[in-house]
Amino acid sequence: MAYETIIVEIEEGIASITLNRPEVLNALNDKVFNELEEAATKLAADNDVRVVIITGGEKVFAAGADISQMASSTAVDVATGEKPSLRAFKAIENMPKPVIASISGFALGGGCELTLVADVRIAADNAQFGLPEIKLGILPGAGGTQRLPRLIGIGRAKELIFSGCFIAADEALRIGLVNKVVPADQLSAETQKMAKRFAVQGAVALRLAKSAVNEGLRMDLEAGLEYEHKCFSLLFATEDQKEGMKAFMEKRPAKFLGK
Ligand code: CAA
Repeated sequence: MAYETIIVEIEEGIASITLNRPEVLNALNDKVFNELEEAATKLAADNDVRVVIITGGEKVFAAGADISQMASSTAVDVATGEKPSLRAFKAIENMPKPVIASISGFALGGGCELTLVADVRIAADNAQFGLPEIKLGILPGAGGTQRLPRLIGIGRAKELIFSGCFIAADEALRIGLVNKVVPADQLSAETQKMAKRFAVQGAVALRLAKSAVNEGLRMDLEAGLEYEHKCFSLLFATEDQKEGMKAFMEKRPAKFLGK
């Protein structure tokens, strides 16, 4: 898959999407969003891809939406124009397989919001997170006001959104914005390790587990539990359920086929 602003690589069932506009600190313009949407759609449909990693450079994951592209926009442009950022983020969030954001350096504005559509976030100890949109006279417009409070709680999210301040990786870990912090030179290896732990699991179970969490968050608890039970029941129709339980009884690792 050849793109201009991202690099997509697939190795042993693990795909990585690397943001690649280093001259502007991986600022996200419409081209990046369109390419992210296209890549996510293709990787979602590729059954050989078990896990997807989204990453950036060593010094910057992404410094946010491209301010030069937004600077001259009018309210009408923004309200009525295409919404490539929202489409791209939805395509990533809805991928029926685990998505890991692997973050080194700055993850700001739309860059931070991009990490929020991943299922888990692993950060290098040099990572810095923030939603500085307020300092530009706007608000986080790619899901930050919605996904961040759901992840870290309303008060903490509002503090970040209202102040525009950056927080370091250890603080991001403390407030639950990231799952794990590792030394910068080990980020790639640690991300691969996490990806492999997901990749060996059954693809159908992963898909339904992700769906149960994501869809359940949009429902009240009763409806969510009902939906979880439907997903749970469905898995008893898979070969992987038979294999998983047989392997447990035989005291050996399961070999899942994804069906
Ligand atoms: N958009 C466009 N260009 C950007 C950019 C962005 N978000 N962030 C950095 N750049 C460009 C700079 O203009 C600069 O270009 P030139 O070399 O041509 O001048 C180049 O990248 C290097 O940046 P700096 O010189 O500023 O690098 P620095 O190391 O001094 O500072 C930084 C790094 C703290 C990340 C700083 O660049 C910065 O604050 N960037 C903007 C962060 C921001 O406000 N993000 C939110 C964007 S709005 C948004 O994301 C809306 C939304 O919700 C979707």
